[in-house]
Amino acid sequence: MRPIYIPHDNELPENVHIPNFHGRVLIGGKLRTDVPYKTVMSPCWLKRRGSDELYAPEIGQTPNVTTEIFGQAVDAAIAAWSQGTGEWPTARMEERINAVISFRDRMLKQRELVSKLLMWEIAKPWTDSLAEFDRTIKYIDDTVEATKQLDRDCARMHFSEGIMAQIRRAPLGVTLCMGPFNYPLNETFTTLIPALIMGNTVIVKIPRWGQLLWEPLLEAFHDCFPPGVVNIINGLGRAIIADSIHAGKIDTLAFIGSSAVANKIKLSHPRPHRFRSILSLDAKNPAIIMPDAKIDVAVAECTRGALTFNGQRCTALKIFFVHKSIRKNFEEALVAKVESLKCGLPWELGVSITPMPDFAKAGSLREQIDEALRSGARALNPDSGGKIIGSLMTPAVVSGVPFSTRLGCNEQFGPVLPVVEYDRIEEFEDYVVQSHFGSQASFFGEDSEIIGKLIDRLSNQLCRINLNTQCQRGPDVFPFTGRKDSGEGTLSVTDALRSFSIRSMVAAKQDSSGKGIVRGVLEGGDSHFLSTDIVL
Ligand code: G3H
Repeated sequence: MRPIYIPHDNELPENVHIPNFHGRVLIGGKLRTDVPYKTVMSPCWLKRRGSDELYAPEIGQTPNVTTEIFGQAVDAAIAAWSQGTGEWPTARMEERINAVISFRDRMLKQRELVSKLLMWEIAKPWTDSLAEFDRTIKYIDDTVEATKQLDRDCARMHFSEGIMAQIRRAPLGVTLCMGPFNYPLNETFTTLIPALIMGNTVIVKIPRWGQLLWEPLLEAFHDCFPPGVVNIINGLGRAIIADSIHAGKIDTLAFIGSSAVANKIKLSHPRPHRFRSILSLDAKNPAIIMPDAKIDVAVAECTRGALTFNGQRCTALKIFFVHKSIRKNFEEALVAKVESLKCGLPWELGVSITPMPDFAKAGSLREQIDEALRSGARALNPDSGGKIIGSLMTPAVVSGVPFSTRLGCNEQFGPVLPVVEYDRIEEFEDYVVQSHFGSQASFFGEDSEIIGKLIDRLSNQLCRINLNTQCQRGPDVFPFTGRKDSGEGTLSVTDALRSFSIRSMVAAKQDSSGKGIVRGVLEGGDSHFLSTDIVL
C-alpha cells in the first residue's frame, strides 16, 4: 500500500477550498433559518498547521429540525396536496414537466459547488462527485422524456364491451423521500423527481451526511415549484418523522437505508394498506469465481465492485466464493490489486480509498475483522490492510471467513473483502438461499452450461445476476429492485413513474349519451385529466 499523504490545513490547493456554509430549510414555500442547527465536520481529516495532530475540519452549520418543525413541513405538503385538488396534483403534465426543466436548468449552474460539497461532506473522490452530479442531471432529462412518452400513451381512448375509457396515472399524495448518505444527491433525486413529476407533494428528509450540498439548490426549488409542493428539511431521521407517520399523514414512503429502520417505520403507520413503500435496503451481494474464470478479469471487477467509494454502496460486492483449485492464485492477485490502490483525500488525483463520513465506521469494521480472525479467518494483507487513519480505513482482505461471523453474513458497507473457499457449487447456492438478502450477485466463469443452470437456480432469489462483471445499479433505465430484506418496489427511469402513481380512469358507455359527454369535455378542453392533448 502506498503511503497516505494527509496535508496540513494551510497546504490545501486553492481550488479545493470551500466557504463555510450555513444551510436553510424549505417549508411551505419559505426558506427558513429560524430552526436549531448543528455543526458539520468533514471526514476529510487534516493535520493542524505546525503539528501532526489530525482533526476533522468544520465546514458549516446545517439545520437540525425538531419533530414540530418536521410536522410543519408535512402540513405544508398536505395543504399543497389539498385532498388531491391542489394546483400541483391537478396541473397538466406539461406544466409539471416545464417546472422540472426550469429547476434542472438552474441546478446545472451549481455543478461545481454542489460537487465540491459532496467531496467535502462524504469524502467522495472529486471525479466521482462530478459523476454523481452529472448522472443526476441525466436522470432528470431521461425522466422528462419518459414522462412525455407515458403521457402520450395515456392520451388514447380504450374501447371494450361497449365501454370507452381513458386510463391515466394519477399521483398518490404526500410523499416522504429519505435518501442515503452514499449518494445523497443522486439517489434522493431518483425518488424525488419521479414523485414530483407525477403530481405528488413531497417532504425530503435529507441524509445524515451530505446535507450542505442541498443549500445551493434551495432557491431553485423555491422558485420553480408552488409553495408546499417540495419541502426540504434535515434532522435526526426516525425520531422526527415518527409522529407524522403514526398520525397517518404520509401516503408514500421512498426510503433508501436499512431494513431494520424501514420495518419500524412501516409498522408504525395506522393504516398500512394506505401506506405505499418504495424501499431500497441492505444487501450482501456475493461473487462466485469458478475454476475456469479469467482471473485478471475477476480480480479487476471484484476489486472495483468491492471498493468503489470504499465499499459504501448497496450494490457493492460483499463476499467472494472462490473455487479451491484457484483460491491461492486468486487471493494473491486480489491482494496485489487492492494494495495498488491509492488511499488519501478525495481531491487527490487517482485516489480510490478515502475517509468515511461515519466517524465510528472504521472502528466497527476493525471489530468485525478481529471477530472473523478470532473465529479462524486469516488476514491476507495484515501489514497494510485494516489500518485506521482518522476516519479512513485501508482495505483489508480476509480469507476463510466463517458464515457465523458478522463479516460472513451481514452487510459490511466498507473496505473489507471477505473470501471463502468452495468446493461444490451447491455451497454458493445454499448461501444465497439462506441469506436474508436478495439483491444481486456476480458469476465469474466461462462454462455456459454451468452458468446457465446456476442462473435458473438463483434467478428467483436475486434481482440481477451479473456475468463476468461487478454488481451495479446502472444504467438507470434498468430495473433496480430487491427481494427479501433488500427492497420493495422497483426504481428505474420508467418504473419510478409507476411506483409514484396509480392507474385511474374515466369510463362511459359507448352510446350516444356517453359519446356526447366525453366529446363535450374533450372539445371544450374542460378537464386536465380527460384530455387527448399530448406533451410535444
Ligand atoms: O448504493 C446503492 C447505489 O444505488 C449504487 O449505485 O451501483 O451505480 O454505484 P451504483
